[in-house]
Amino acid sequence: MLITGQSGSGKEMVARGIHQASKRTGHPFVAVNCAALTESLIESELFGHEKGAFTGATDRKIGRFEAANHGTLFLDEVGELPLGRQTKFLRVLEEQCFERVGGTKSIHVNVRVVAATNRDLPAMVKAGTFREDLYYRLSVIHTIVPSLGERPTDIPILAHHFLLRLRSQVARNIDGFSRDAMNAMCAYRWPGNVRELRNAVERAIVLGDGNQLEVADLPPELFTGSGDPAVAPAVAPAVAPAVAPAIVAATAPVAHSPAAEAQAPMTLRDLEKNGIIAALQSTGGNKARAAALLQIDRSTLYKKIKDYEIGS
Ligand SMILES: Nc1ncnc2c1ncn2[C@@H]1O[C@H](COP(=O)(O)OP(=O)(O)OP(=O)(O)O)[C@@H](O)[C@H]1O
Ligand SMILES: [Mg+2]
Repeated sequence: MLITGQSGSGKEMVARGIHQASKRTGHPFVAVNCAALTESLIESELFGHEKGAFTGATDRKIGRFEAANHGTLFLDEVGELPLGRQTKFLRVLEEQCFERVGGTKSIHVNVRVVAATNRDLPAMVKAGTFREDLYYRLSVIHTIVPSLGERPTDIPILAHHFLLRLRSQVARNIDGFSRDAMNAMCAYRWPGNVRELRNAVERAIVLGDGNQLEVADLPPELFTGSGDPAVAPAVAPAVAPAVAPAIVAATAPVAHSPAAEAQAPMTLRDLEKNGIIAALQSTGGNKARAAALLQIDRSTLYKKIKDYEIGS
């Protein structure tokens, strides 16, 4: 499977969401960043090596493929995988079988490979720097994560999510954003996508001093014309991959309780429930509009409201 999208748009988040929602969830999710590995290291990192395979190989080492057995191997920045290593990688993808460096024994694994990149792989294929067969193999299922500017309705949802997650860093109570601050965030194009939004909220939490995050607490880029002109948050969301709505983490402003919030991992149910609450809040409780925003049927929304006991 291949996930593409701009830097900071949430590709790894989507990969983790797919893993957590799958039957592989009890098994490891192993992430490898191809850009961080030198060509000589890649092979032993991915496939492991036997003791004495090369100078410095003092012990046998298990590679990431083996470590991810029965789970998911997330291959980040796959466009950086050196051409010379792509052939072996393709063979392993097809056969789920390899030898450790310096070893002769075939090792069989059962691994779902999810690759991600912000590079234009078809252009790399044309330029001869990415193998065409590997591209087709990876892109059997291709998910495109839209940039944050293409899904402006996610901006308030994510901003609240990060506020709840991060506000326990400071001692004062913070209830939300001023209307002007929220409007400014919704009007900005966010070239750095969700990562930039997260950093902006964190900065505002640290720099601000009131019970609301104000325009003045936001980074100057929001007002200096970087990024494209405003995109109104009322615009219908761009068509997102089916997995996205469940992963977009939204939160409702609840009573301030730093201890309870402190970085607790959220389940998919929590994420979905919070997404529904945020959609209902942003539509003033209008269920038909909230259902449209969430891209689900109204009857599905009613079922979920009952199931999650929202508003009761
Ligand atoms: N839907 C989301 N809900 C909550 N947090 C998100 C969401 N999408 C992205 N994030 C957060 O934004 C940051 C960037 O996300 P992520 O690392 O998944 O992006 P990426 O597309 O892999 O970026 P890069 O191309 O730079 O590797 C992370 O801190 C991540 O937790
Ligand atoms: Mg990433």
